[in-house]
Amino acid sequence: GNGAAKAGKSRNILEKMEESDKNCVVFYGSQTGTAEDYASRIAKEGHSRFGLNCMVADLEDYEYDNLDQFPEDKLAVFVLATYGEGEPTDNAVEFYEFLGGDDVAFSEGASADEKPLSKMKYVAFGLGNNTYEHYNSMVRDVDKYLTKLGATRLGAAGEGDDGAGTMEEDFLAWKEPMWTAVCEALNLEEREAVYEPVFEIKERPELSAEDDTVYLGEPNKNHLEGSQKGPYNANNPFIAPIVESTELFTAADRNCLHMEVGIEGSNLSYTTGDHIAIWPTNAGKEVDRLLNILGLKDKRHTVIAVKGLDSTAKVPFPSPTTYDAAVRYHMEIGAAVSRQFASQLAQFAPNEDIKNEMTKLGSERDYFHEKVSDRNLNLAQLLEITSKGEPWTKIPFSLLIEGLLKIQPRYYSISSSSLVQKNKISITAVVESSQKPGAPHILKGVTTNYLLALKQKQHGEPNPDPHGLEYSITGPRNKYDGIHVPVHVRHSNFRLPSDPSKPIIMVGPGTGVAPFRGFVQERAAQAKAGQPVGKTILFFGCRKKAEDFIYEKEWEEYKQALGDNFVMHTAFSRDGSKKVYVQHKLEENGEEVNKLLEQKAYFYVCGDAAHMAREVNTLLGKIIAKYRGVDESRGEEIVKAMRASNQYQEDVWS
Ligand code: FAD
Ligand code: 2AM
Repeated sequence: GNGAAKAGKSRNILEKMEESDKNCVVFYGSQTGTAEDYASRIAKEGHSRFGLNCMVADLEDYEYDNLDQFPEDKLAVFVLATYGEGEPTDNAVEFYEFLGGDDVAFSEGASADEKPLSKMKYVAFGLGNNTYEHYNSMVRDVDKYLTKLGATRLGAAGEGDDGAGTMEEDFLAWKEPMWTAVCEALNLEEREAVYEPVFEIKERPELSAEDDTVYLGEPNKNHLEGSQKGPYNANNPFIAPIVESTELFTAADRNCLHMEVGIEGSNLSYTTGDHIAIWPTNAGKEVDRLLNILGLKDKRHTVIAVKGLDSTAKVPFPSPTTYDAAVRYHMEIGAAVSRQFASQLAQFAPNEDIKNEMTKLGSERDYFHEKVSDRNLNLAQLLEITSKGEPWTKIPFSLLIEGLLKIQPRYYSISSSSLVQKNKISITAVVESSQKPGAPHILKGVTTNYLLALKQKQHGEPNPDPHGLEYSITGPRNKYDGIHVPVHVRHSNFRLPSDPSKPIIMVGPGTGVAPFRGFVQERAAQAKAGQPVGKTILFFGCRKKAEDFIYEKEWEEYKQALGDNFVMHTAFSRDGSKKVYVQHKLEENGEEVNKLLEQKAYFYVCGDAAHMAREVNTLLGKIIAKYRGVDESRGEEIVKAMRASNQYQEDVWS
């Protein structure tokens, strides 16, 4: 967040570096926290291995117009995620627009042609996803702008690919040659790495976890002070009541939730097609596992004060708090553990044998994959397995705060119409639960299992795997009645045509149908109100008609309102001997699809980004080519143009 601005701190990066004695700044543009995490890893490594005094900086906390005075003997690092369709992350928008602007103006007044950044040395790493068209465009563009303005890049600009699942390895592979180039340019030498904590943790036995000033997971400071206040946004969630929760289907290995979240009185509003963010709490079982293996089980409710040991270190949650609250509400403890983190943990192993095993895991890529990544181990599971249950009491708590991501809200495509239910947001979510062959644990998605636990609690159902809700914000301080969940709304560009008489075509298999429930609900209400509503065509796919055909009854009700203008094409992939997907149905109906597109129908795709959405995109080009009698490359171009004009809209995730 724009912490510096709010706290009235300096927005002058040069001043900040000077006064805190830094010779390296690691800027990040981050949406979900991964780029921020990589930035702090680079900063720490720069210091421990090469003696660089590094600080990490949120791009939105500083001004950029004095970068032309960036000193020659210092280093700027840019860690930049690309978001959505090639956009900068929210915190990097201004920076991106500044650097790429036609009239980029620095404080000394030099024009772009005069190479105003000729003193600056930098390195750059991008985080992207090759399933999106504008792969890593943020780092590519920024690198181009910096070079054009005269700055000198050290090493190659790195690109990590989340689509291929190789982000971490791409990062590790980029990092070593980058450091070599940096050492050469800045005349640095590698030294024996020593761990230096970023935070000081002081136990405060004189304080009780019951004290009002102790943070117990309240999602923002106002809760700590006993009230919640808007505006509610990505920095300040609304604690929303769950009005309704049901299971849309429960199969042997999967279930799907439908939830209604109340936003009345919050001043939050949404438009059909927006996303809701859910702020999860870690599962009790995983919190226990981690506290146990760290030897903190008996101290879990001990009050701790956490302080940055350096003026640039931000403590990422309120202090004082407890070990339990920090782990349960702050840290992403369920996620895959990185190889670099494993290697860093080796020095804190309970004994030499365990240390050697951790070192091996940290240094041998294939071994790590076989033993850890391929088995989906999280941090606590890895520690448990390598030490055979012996507690790791030497790991500094600071290292966990530094090494684990901050727990992230997850997004859901709102599955209701804001016209029909302005004050209630529907969510449609499949509960993540899977086990890889040979993996010792079932991987349970953090947020969806949290939602499932809330649903079970609401209905007084038994929960075989308690989530630890007794600790939740609705628990220890009992400020709320009933079942609640912290949320905020994120506005999207996924929109119905403003004129309902325009035809629409929707493709949404599985939970990809979520926003289309909202779309169809809206058009049914408009039809009922006597408005002319155009053709409304939905391609839906699931495994079996009798198993996971979600909202089956509701579609019939919408049909009553919309009549023949609502057509649903279903693809059941596991009912017959051959797989049938939505693509097959699109192909079968290609002639009509093309005809509607020529009448300027909007085309929407929602759901799986990695396969389905790409295949639909390609197929649509072929359908257009076939029915318009043009060649396929022309078909592809037409689809591209449809995307550019928003006639083709996607809401996809991987
Ligand atoms: P997480 O804990 O986040 O786990 C998710 C995945 O991460 C796992 O399946 C696994 O692949 C990986 N993972 C986690 N832990 C490990 C580990 N230890 N080792 C290896 N891999 C691991 N979902 C819906 O159901 N409905 C929607 O309408 C919907 N809309 C979305 C809209 C947008 C814009 C986006 C970005 C996503 C949407 N999603 C939707 C997906 C949703 O946001 C979540 O990603 C999903 O529900 C899983 O969240 P989770 O916290 O339960 O799982
Ligand atoms: P499957 O799991 O039987 O292969 C919702 O998840 C539906 O999408 C399921 O019927 C699933 O089928 C199907 N599906 C899986 N991969 C797909 C793809 N590449 N394109 C379209 N649908 C797909």
